[in-house]
Amino acid sequence: MSLLQRIQRKARRELLTRTAGVRGAAKAAIIGCGQISPDHLSAFQESGVATVVAASDVRAGAMASLLRHYPTVRAFRDYRTMINETRPDVVSICTWPQHHLEIVRAAAQLGVKGILCEKPMALTMSEVDEMIEVCRNAGVKLAIGHQYRFHPYFIHAAGVIASGALGKLSEVRGNIKDSVANNGPHLLDTIRFLLADRPVARVAATFERAGNKQNRGWPVEDGARGELTFDGGLVAKVALGDFSPTFFDIEVVGDKGSLKVDLEGVRVNGKVALAHDADAAWYACRRAQFTEFVKWTTGKSASYSANADTSARSAELALAMYESGRRAAPVELPLADKGDVIREFFGSIAVPRSSPGPSRATQGSRWTAVDPRSPPGRRRPRISVRVRPRALPAS
Ligand SMILES: NC(=O)c1ccc[n+]([C@@H]2O[C@H](COP(=O)([O-])OP(=O)(O)OC[C@H]3O[C@@H](n4cnc5c(N)ncnc54)[C@H](O)[C@@H]3O)[C@@H](O)[C@H]2O)c1
Repeated sequence: MSLLQRIQRKARRELLTRTAGVRGAAKAAIIGCGQISPDHLSAFQESGVATVVAASDVRAGAMASLLRHYPTVRAFRDYRTMINETRPDVVSICTWPQHHLEIVRAAAQLGVKGILCEKPMALTMSEVDEMIEVCRNAGVKLAIGHQYRFHPYFIHAAGVIASGALGKLSEVRGNIKDSVANNGPHLLDTIRFLLADRPVARVAATFERAGNKQNRGWPVEDGARGELTFDGGLVAKVALGDFSPTFFDIEVVGDKGSLKVDLEGVRVNGKVALAHDADAAWYACRRAQFTEFVKWTTGKSASYSANADTSARSAELALAMYESGRRAAPVELPLADKGDVIREFFGSIAVPRSSPGPSRATQGSRWTAVDPRSPPGRRRPRISVRVRPRALPAS
């Protein structure tokens, strides 16, 4: 970002903050002041339709760090007290997913009108369903932090696909770094978005875990591969974590052309179709995500692209990948097991006590991951098996 852009954005934020009262901006509050919270704070401030009045964290240091440039934003250790005292119209939930249901439930009971909850929505389908039900019963709008639905490159790509320019689609490929539980919902949700949210019928996945990696308090694999079969037979092949060659990209192939989209731009048939300043695109994405959320919450727009109902389907895909890994077989949707499929999966495999180092690469057509506790010479257990080819859907 250039110095001029930085000055312009800061000036805009300050002007909007000072004029929030006269413009009737919605009051926003943030729960959880960690890594992702500055994005929420600045996006609300720059939206022009909301202003952040308060933030809450159980850690005073995290709050102080987030709010050091926002002296007028009130800080609370307890988010319930914050909501009672400041009466925000909307709240952002920027805590780990284990806490999302509890905070959604409390915020809905305390009378907020809208909740923007970070992904992953939750780690079980029963929690996902309950979050939706609680908000529906309380008349609260619930959105999930799937920002790529508002990113200019992904919106452009979705438009190209919807126009039919690629012809009949034959394959989708998607890659993202990090685990299925953590970044999987981003990848899976964005693939669904590009394909106009067409339903998925079946999910198959395999995993590799050579260490005992954790992410925000729950076990995660080193890498995963999966196949989503959409209604009508189109297949999306996904690679995550160590198996992903890039941070994040999606390719869609049809009988008339192909498209690739990532955070650098959009290529159609290998030629750049859209790629301006990546930072400006990200800024536009965040502003749109938060502006549209507030407008939806306050009744100024009728719908929101990353609402909880559609986000639940993306959460379900990620959880279905773990269920497929546990069963070593494809899983039909809707996912029947609404319990803790992630821990059921990791509980079904031997988890090493200490990390043996980098995970092993794929070995031929079989992916294996070994338990380093196994005595030498004995056959080491695979922690996940490749789904049998006969089970893989036709493309
Ligand atoms: N959309 C994205 O691209 C993106 C990027 C990063 C993180 N995230 C998601 O955001 C969420 C938070 O991740 P993070 O990296 O910011 O985590 P983090 O650990 O940096 O911050 C979480 C904060 O929540 C606080 N907290 C915990 N319980 C609380 C409570 N009851 N009340 C108030 N505060 C509480 C913690 O003290 C901590 O400061 C996760 O779900 C993560 O997956 C999304």
